[in-house]
Amino acid sequence: MSTIQLRTPVPGPKSKALSDRRAKAVPRGLSHGTPIYVAKAEDAWLEDVDGNRYLDFAGGIGCLNVGHRRHEVVDAVRKQLDSFLHTCVQVTPYESYVRLAERMNQVTPGTFPKKTMFVNSGAEAVENAIKIARAHTKRPGVIAFEDAFHGRTMMTLALTSKTHPYKAGFAPFPSDVYRIPYAYCYRCSYSLKYPSCELYCARHLEDTFKRVVANEDVAAVIAEPVLGEGGFIAPPPDYFKVLIELCHKYGIVFIADEVQSGFGRTGALFACERYGVEPDLLVSAKSLGGGLPLAAVTGRAEIMDAPGVGGLGGTFAGNPLSCAAALAVLDLFERENLLARANQLGDHFQRRAREWQRRWPIIGDVRGLGGMQAIELVQSQESKAPASEETKKIAQYCYEHGLITITAGSYSNVIRVLVPLVITNEQMDEALDVLESAIANVCDPKGAVAQLV
Ligand SMILES: Cc1ncc(COP(=O)(O)O)c(C=O)c1O
Repeated sequence: MSTIQLRTPVPGPKSKALSDRRAKAVPRGLSHGTPIYVAKAEDAWLEDVDGNRYLDFAGGIGCLNVGHRRHEVVDAVRKQLDSFLHTCVQVTPYESYVRLAERMNQVTPGTFPKKTMFVNSGAEAVENAIKIARAHTKRPGVIAFEDAFHGRTMMTLALTSKTHPYKAGFAPFPSDVYRIPYAYCYRCSYSLKYPSCELYCARHLEDTFKRVVANEDVAAVIAEPVLGEGGFIAPPPDYFKVLIELCHKYGIVFIADEVQSGFGRTGALFACERYGVEPDLLVSAKSLGGGLPLAAVTGRAEIMDAPGVGGLGGTFAGNPLSCAAALAVLDLFERENLLARANQLGDHFQRRAREWQRRWPIIGDVRGLGGMQAIELVQSQESKAPASEETKKIAQYCYEHGLITITAGSYSNVIRVLVPLVITNEQMDEALDVLESAIANVCDPKGAVAQLV
């Protein structure tokens, strides 16, 4: 039986009424991608207040790799609810924080001694990673990448690339941030081709030290191992090795922002493992908390210890409920083969998306790593002009037919897959049928396949 069940045209009357209330009570800056109000969610589906059931390719933007309301996570949180809710770890600490730090030190890449601290959000963790790198190196500069996304706080906005809607109107941002091109091979900034380019974009870092910022002024290079909001761009296999070697040659801390690419999404617990590299600092969040807010900075012990006593922290940072949830998430990754599942889902998506690419010129690129997959939509495969309006229409069609998707990319022309890894094969095909039908509808509205509902 189909998981998708639409009882009303969407949004239904109750969702519409809530949208009206929201418009009066909440600022418009908080966008409203899919205006249905959730009543319930399990595994890879959610149900709205009008009783419509959807498959969920967004997973709360990559926070639910282990599934909505995994009962192991819910049980762990429930158990914690019965002992205490909050004490503030800097005032009266608790064992679960320490145990989670120990486990993060074990499961992150790198056999060197490590330490971990917890905060509430991805952006807060990135902020702390920068603080730690600066305290360690006693240098100010940070190098970030084009198409990067690191969050919405002022420092992370400085590191983020996309101007609209993230940065426009919010300047000035903190200084000493420098931006260089990423390995976006589909749109190479240097018009080169891999592998004959010999990773010019990574090696170009040395040129940046001559022409943009002196290497002795750079504390950190921060990169997402696979770009998230930037459009699910996975650099060539040897890219990060070259980049990290250069960082270490100049005493610069390499920070991997694994907020979106982490926790099993790419078929390894962390995407850095897929590249065979060990970052000096690794930032994780989203699916770490299994649906609760939690983020971490894990890194080389001597770097993590650079800030003085009292220099790190936060009132709710590493709160007991989130720590309990994260320990359950790590147990699930140990017990279940979610990493293999991410690869299976990714392979299946690739097979179907490549077929679409042969049928419809709007599919410019099919790409990803493990279960972190996307399609980039273009006006034509020759011009590669972004098909941003068509992408919006595809996402809208999907939602109207029971599939929640989210777009990405600096040109808003990428559809990404962040589906909970517990989706069944039947549900995955059902979801991909909707996406296929949406593409057909946009490419050829008259000849499009029959409506699904
Ligand atoms: C790579 C990356 N870094 C940082 C962030 C910011 O995380 P948060 O929204 O939890 O602050 C995000 C959010 O999408 C992200 O994808």
